[in-house]
Amino acid sequence: MQTENPVCVAVLGLGYVGCVTAACLASLGHRVFGVDRDQHKVNEVRSGRAPFYEPGLEELVRETTAAGRLSADTSAEVIAEADIALVCVGTPSEKNGNLGLEQLRRAVGEIAAQAAGPERSRAKPLIVAIRSTVLPGTCEEVVRPAFAGSASVIVVSHPEFLREGSAVRDFFEPSLVVIGGSDDAAIRRVADLYQPLGVKASLVSLGTAEMIKYASNAFHAVKISFANEIGALCEQVGVDGAEVMATLCEDVKLNISSAYLKPGFAFGGSCLPKDLRALVYRAAHLDLKLPLVESALPSNEQHLRRAIEAVLDLPARRIGVIGLAFKENTDDLRESPVVTLLEQLIGKGRDVRVFDARIRLDGIYGSNRNFIVETIPHIGRILTSSLDQILGWADHLVLAQKQTAAVMEQIQICGLPVLGLVNAGSPQSAPPGRAALGAGS
Ligand SMILES: NC(=O)c1ccc[n+]([C@@H]2O[C@H](COP(=O)([O-])OP(=O)(O)OC[C@H]3O[C@@H](n4cnc5c(N)ncnc54)[C@H](O)[C@@H]3O)[C@@H](O)[C@H]2O)c1
Repeated sequence: MQTENPVCVAVLGLGYVGCVTAACLASLGHRVFGVDRDQHKVNEVRSGRAPFYEPGLEELVRETTAAGRLSADTSAEVIAEADIALVCVGTPSEKNGNLGLEQLRRAVGEIAAQAAGPERSRAKPLIVAIRSTVLPGTCEEVVRPAFAGSASVIVVSHPEFLREGSAVRDFFEPSLVVIGGSDDAAIRRVADLYQPLGVKASLVSLGTAEMIKYASNAFHAVKISFANEIGALCEQVGVDGAEVMATLCEDVKLNISSAYLKPGFAFGGSCLPKDLRALVYRAAHLDLKLPLVESALPSNEQHLRRAIEAVLDLPARRIGVIGLAFKENTDDLRESPVVTLLEQLIGKGRDVRVFDARIRLDGIYGSNRNFIVETIPHIGRILTSSLDQILGWADHLVLAQKQTAAVMEQIQICGLPVLGLVNAGSPQSAPPGRAALGAGS
């Protein structure tokens, strides 16, 4: 497995991420210079040994140093020869939990000293790829300014997803390869480092690349905590938690899938809130704390509150809300977040009307009708009977439900400003200074 396009790579930081990356890239045929301030780590690599235990790493370091493709130094002077500098230094927590950027600032300063400045101006461009985990905005606000005035340096974000204990295997069989930046050629050049692996890299914006690492780790932590909480509850009620979670994972349509994983509007309806309440009540009855599961309803309420505030902030005189049921293609109004939204708008004296293709007041009955009439006694006055009617009346639209392509086209043609609360997958505009909530594809 050898690359067809070997390049010169400098890897700054020979810790768990850097050393694995350096040895693995060298094994693919690239020329790799490892740089670390720690003389011991440098000596170990120079001697063909891994500076720490990681399965498979020692062999790779031995082979690649012997082949002359991996070398190590405490000085960053090798940057002068590099095409790509991968920054893999530590970003430990500060005492208050904030991200510590001291190592990053220093490493970037050392690269800048080698790569920039009139007397050291480079003949070839240098791509500086940040592999260390950094918060969104760091590349733009901390890294790029260090290279101000050096047109030959391009900054990209290239987060690392390997797991200690299987880091070498994760390198060769990556779960995800992400490269972010605004220079297409540069991000493709970094992606090309992995050409022999045959993986398709996700080429994204700088901010997305920085954020995806945090989103992934938060997701992993939430998954583990969720499984543990369900397991703990199962134990208390005498059910086999392992069997429950294994069965849950068999559903690859709704459970282990991209379903419910797009930012959008708050959830509602006749099941999720009710069933969460019952689960939380039962756990409390058993003196069992389930902070993650317990936090789902308050989290949902906060999300709804953000949406309500965004609508209240609209510079609108006549607000037309599209969608009333808790989701599209149903007339079920029970616990619909749109009903709460309307209640709040009416309570604050806003002029509001609502349209839902599935809802006519004379068509709903029973608990559904009772719920809406009790919650919004004047529902009959604000519920419009056609899309044309609401488009003709409103001066601002709020999209509270996914709509068909035909409806979205009609909305677009009418030219009214739209605040999207759902992930509609269609173009939406927002008032100046505020991003459309839940917008995006
Ligand atoms: N360890 C993991 O499993 C893992 C996985 C994915 C991402 N990350 C992220 O990758 C980054 C590195 O993690 P790590 O576990 O490899 O850290 P680490 O502490 O093991 O290694 C960092 C290395 O950088 C060196 N260093 C510091 N300043 C330097 C400088 N100016 N020049 C050269 N070398 C310098 C240190 O001496 C150290 O050897 C962190 O941001 C971490 O969050 C870690």
